[in-house]
Amino acid sequence: MTFRPRYTGLIDRYRDRLPVHDDTRIISLGEGNTPLIRLNNIPRLIKQNVDIYVKYEGLNPTGSFKDRGMTMAVTKAVEEGSRAIICASTGNTSAAAAAYASRAGITAFVLIPEGKIALGKLAQAMIHGAVVIQIKGNFDEGMELVKQIGKETPITIVNSINPYRLQGQKTAAFEILEELSGAPDFHCIPVGNAGNITAHWMGYKEYHEHGIVNNLPRMVGYQASGAAPFMRGKMVDNPDTIATAIRIGHPQSWDKAWVVQKESNGWFDECTDAELLAAQKMLTEHEGVFCEPASAISLAGAMKDIASGKIPQGSKIVCTLTGHGLKDPDTAIKQSTRGVLTTDAKLDSVKRAILDNLK
Ligand code: F0G
Repeated sequence: MTFRPRYTGLIDRYRDRLPVHDDTRIISLGEGNTPLIRLNNIPRLIKQNVDIYVKYEGLNPTGSFKDRGMTMAVTKAVEEGSRAIICASTGNTSAAAAAYASRAGITAFVLIPEGKIALGKLAQAMIHGAVVIQIKGNFDEGMELVKQIGKETPITIVNSINPYRLQGQKTAAFEILEELSGAPDFHCIPVGNAGNITAHWMGYKEYHEHGIVNNLPRMVGYQASGAAPFMRGKMVDNPDTIATAIRIGHPQSWDKAWVVQKESNGWFDECTDAELLAAQKMLTEHEGVFCEPASAISLAGAMKDIASGKIPQGSKIVCTLTGHGLKDPDTAIKQSTRGVLTTDAKLDSVKRAILDNLK
């Protein structure tokens, strides 16, 4: 019997493609290496001849793709002697920053919009011991404050304006290319600050330029209708959506994402809250995959673009599911149709509940 070496995280795996030295102390929680799951039932249900895969980034250590960037950003912050990190966040970045800071033994300061962060994410930032600062404002305002603090103090910003974040996140594209032995035809991805779409394109191009693969995907970025600056062609001042993770009106990677759209011959599109919630439910009920509302917009958008013919029949599509469904239990419970049955602790009552609900 042969044993495979233990997986120790994406920096170790892609060491030669990331800005680390042999003696760099790596701050890792075993992130990356997430499953690429082929949808078996949804293409049949929507009666479309397409091959859809979901990259389940919710299975990273803190439950979102942010861990890919955070392992790099915190590794470099520690290497450069930083004792504290800071971010503005709609929730997932703060959870990742809090976890990696505690792993490194440094302090995390996180600015979150009051009342607009999913419960699981808040719990994570708090339990890891981050200094949680709730502002009476939205993510975009928090981001401006963090940039000021970054200028005035030696605290390292770990939002995706930190270039190491995108370096770490590009590895998701490497994994997809390796697993599919080439690029999909389309890569569908939620867009908030647009760091992740930019990082994926970097990763795809890097393997292409090195001749490891010979094709590239078209990148398709989806935004919630109430927070869709890429669709409006300008910044949005009061963004709103149930998908709080992408409740962003002033994307930090605005210019970079337009370059991705042009270079990859892709496009941006928008989905309503109802559409993204329906996709979240469809994934849970028909594929057994539980992602958070913002993540489901990649599938919601793909289904729309398949139905309209923009994504042609026969296409191979990857949808990134950026965060785990457990991040936002409130929305999940509201979405569930069956609810919970309460009965007496008696055999007859339980039997009746079962017989009444047989499919
Ligand atoms: N999906 C989820 C679950 C997210 O948390 C985010 C961003 C995105 C998609 C969008 O990614 O910003 O790179 O375009 N969340 C950030 C945060 C803003 O603070 O956690 P992007």
